[in-house]
Amino acid sequence: MEEREKTERKKIILSGIQPTGVFTLGNYIGAVRNWGRMQEEFQCAYFIADLHALTVRQEPAALRKQTLEAFALLLACGIDPQKSLVFIQSHVHTHSELSWILSCYTQFGELSRMTQFKDKSAKHTDNVNAGLFTYPALMAADILLYQPDFVPVGADQKQHLELTRDVAIRFNNLYGNVFTIPEAYIPKTGARVMSLQDPTRKMSKSDTNINAFVTVLDEPGVIVKKFKRAVTDSDTEICYREGKDGINNLMSIYSAVTGLSYEQIEHDFSGKGYGDFKTAVGEAVAETLRPIRENFARLMQDKTYLEDMYRKGAETASLISSRTLAKVKKKVGLLSK
Ligand code: TRP
Repeated sequence: MEEREKTERKKIILSGIQPTGVFTLGNYIGAVRNWGRMQEEFQCAYFIADLHALTVRQEPAALRKQTLEAFALLLACGIDPQKSLVFIQSHVHTHSELSWILSCYTQFGELSRMTQFKDKSAKHTDNVNAGLFTYPALMAADILLYQPDFVPVGADQKQHLELTRDVAIRFNNLYGNVFTIPEAYIPKTGARVMSLQDPTRKMSKSDTNINAFVTVLDEPGVIVKKFKRAVTDSDTEICYREGKDGINNLMSIYSAVTGLSYEQIEHDFSGKGYGDFKTAVGEAVAETLRPIRENFARLMQDKTYLEDMYRKGAETASLISSRTLAKVKKKVGLLSK
């Protein structure tokens, strides 16, 4: 019986994304598409990390707009609010509250070693605020409140997840088993998408060259044009090989959107030129993203539905997370009211 219960309980997955602009093809293939695919196998919780976005200065109206758009984009990419918990971080007050408590169990030295803090404080020397420094404590709260088994994160967030685990283990050692210790989830598929202009760097929406990235809302014509301009090498053969970063990136994108293996792609394009291949990749990507753009446009016409969904999400998230928070408050010695 116990064995059956164990196998029947779906594992919990949680992840968040910042509302800092339209998702790129990289965010989609590398993260959000997988989030959608995991909805059957796991109990999933996904949220828009708007509180995290405050660690760098934001234009208030733009942040509001981007937060709503990011929420709509999650739904447009196939996250189904009937199957998964989807919400906006700042709507659920338990996150800020647990963040404060956890920050008292996180060491200055640990936070000082975070490479993202070092990078971001070097980049925004005029605004090295305390939030930027304690950001991992908020992220730990986001995660631990929902007791997830797995957290899908990219390479840039691995260190924060490690810190989350360290803090959770420390807390459990002091007070008993309060938190589930989450593991990083590395999806089986999901390529790391590189810049179309410099394939040695990750595709980023903050790139100053707009030809370097494709967003999930780009028009098909724009997508094809960006792929036609993609930087490749002076070779002519379409094959996956060390040193051919541009072609490797295009092959990996093409494989991710068509499901074709590298061998099949090499076979299909043998004797053909880079130009033909770039057009084929662009067209395949445009086709993959078309329904997302259409879903997004439709959702943005229906603000009432979006509001309804994020309110319901916040309500459920508050309910679930309050249980963990209440336990934590009791354990650390806060008097209950
Ligand atoms: N820090 C993550 C990022 O910038 C977003 C995030 C916030 C997150 N809280 C999280 C991701 C909890 C996973 C789990 O990409």
